[in-house]
Amino acid sequence: MARPRRYLVCEPRYFAVHYAINPWMDKDAPVDTARAAQQWQTLIRTYLDHGHQVVSVPPVPGLPDMVFAANSALTLAGRPRKAFGSLFHAAQRRPEAGEYATWFKAAGYDVYQPESVCEGEGDLVPAGRYLLAGTGFRTTREAHAEVQEFFGVPTIGLRLVDPYFYHLDTALFVVDDAPGDGIGGSWGDGTGNRTGEATIAYYPEAFSSGSREVLRQLFPDALLATRDDALAFGLNSVSDGRHVFISPTATGLIAQLTDRGYLPVPVDLSEFHKAGGGIKCCTQEIR
Ligand code: ARG
Repeated sequence: MARPRRYLVCEPRYFAVHYAINPWMDKDAPVDTARAAQQWQTLIRTYLDHGHQVVSVPPVPGLPDMVFAANSALTLAGRPRKAFGSLFHAAQRRPEAGEYATWFKAAGYDVYQPESVCEGEGDLVPAGRYLLAGTGFRTTREAHAEVQEFFGVPTIGLRLVDPYFYHLDTALFVVDDAPGDGIGGSWGDGTGNRTGEATIAYYPEAFSSGSREVLRQLFPDALLATRDDALAFGLNSVSDGRHVFISPTATGLIAQLTDRGYLPVPVDLSEFHKAGGGIKCCTQEIR
C-alpha cells in the first residue's frame, strides 16, 4: 500500500565533483550541470505526481554534495520533533551539518548533534521495528550507540566491506515498511509492534559475513540484488510501499519488484552517480 511521504531535498545549484571521497568520484570527469538539474527536476516532479510532499533546503555555494539530503539527519515515526543530526566523515562536507540543522530547528525539531561520525539516512535506515545502521566507511559504531540511546529503538549494526557501497543506502533499501507498525512509518504510531515486518532489498556481498547472516535471519524474504543492479544504484531507491522510484538500469531488481507486485518507477539520476549518489541519496524522509 502506498503511503504519502514527506521528502526533504536540496536543489543541485552548486552540484559538482570538486573532490573525491568515494570511488565513484573523479575530479577529471566533468558533471553536466544542466543535465543534472534536469534529472533532479524530473525526480521532484515524479514525487509530486505520486502524491508526495516535497520541501527543500536552500543550497549553499561551496557545498557541492549538499544535494545529497539523505545525509542530513534521521527522524522517526512516533518520536515527534526529534532529529538526530549529522557529523560528516569528510572535512569537505562538515559544514553541511550546520546548514541542515538550521533547517530542522526552523521546522520545529530539537536537533541532537552526534559526537561521533554519522551521515544520516545514508547509514541509518528504519526498517519495521529495527533501525538498521551501517558502518565501515562513514558512520561509526559509537554513533549507532548514540542513536539507539537518543531514540530508544533497537539498532542493528551492519558492517559494509565494499568501498563502492560505502553508505548503507547504496547497498540496501526498504521496499515496504509494514505500515503503521514500524518506526519508519511517516504517520505511524511508531510503537514498533511485531505484527508486521519490513520487506527489504539488498546486495549481500556489500556486507561482512556476520552482517549478511544477521540480514538473512531478520529478513528471510528479502529481495537479493546482483552486483550489476547494485552498481546501477538500484539499491539507492525510494519506495512509498507500492511505487519504487528506481534507477532504470537496475533491470534485474526492477523485474523482481514487478514479480512481487510493486510498481517500479524509473528515474534516471546518472549525473549524480558521478558523485556516488542516486535517488535515495537526494531524498531525506521527514517523519
Ligand atoms: N559524494 C557524496 C559522499 O561521498 C555522496 C553521498 C551519497 N549519499 C548517500 N546517502 N549515499 O559523501
